Amino acid sequence: MLAMSRARLRPLLSAERIAGRVKEIGSNIERDHSGDRPLWLIGALKGAAFFLADLARAVDRDVRIDFIQASSYGSGTESSGNVRIVRDLDHDIAGCDVILVEDIVDSGRTANVLLRLLRERRPASLRLATLLDKPSRRVEPVEIDYRGFEIDNQFVVGYGLDAAERYRNLPGVWTLPETGVGGK
Ligand code: IMP
Ligand code: MG
Repeated sequence: MLAMSRARLRPLLSAERIAGRVKEIGSNIERDHSGDRPLWLIGALKGAAFFLADLARAVDRDVRIDFIQASSYGSGTESSGNVRIVRDLDHDIAGCDVILVEDIVDSGRTANVLLRLLRERRPASLRLATLLDKPSRRVEPVEIDYRGFEIDNQFVVGYGLDAAERYRNLPGVWTLPETGVGGK
């Protein structure tokens, strides 16, 4: 069953390739955050959960984690442009170093809403890490500090990314043809 439902997927990024890139980003984060301030990795639920878990372990210093969630795509593949916060932070990040961790920056709307919200909390620094970047889809400019991979305009799943809540647990990233995204 499972094998059949995955038959349309095409491999894009292997788990090994992702792991290598996550290590590099972890080193870059260490390099950029050598001070004594607490460093928070804020994961954008749900897609960034897997990237955040690996990234946190790739940073060789004390990090704290929290999560934030914006309203998502629902079961379609297009962002509505109407982004709401549905889960806020548990902790105060004022005066801390903060990195928003995203799965993918597509139109850029979600990242900008979350960055704006985090900035209001007065962190000492605020940066953005995203596993994937689809620059050809951008509607709003977004400044990305740590980028895993730039990809073409195709719908992808795996390593946290879903299509109607499916495929998040695939170890690598795969492309999914646009038709029948939520298909059986
Ligand atoms: P944006 O607000 O258009 O930048 O969309 C960001 C969110 O859309 C991401 O956090 C994902 O949840 C979702 N998204 C965008 N592109 C893809 C994709 O190719 N596969 C799965 N989810 C995607
Ligand atoms: Mg998401």
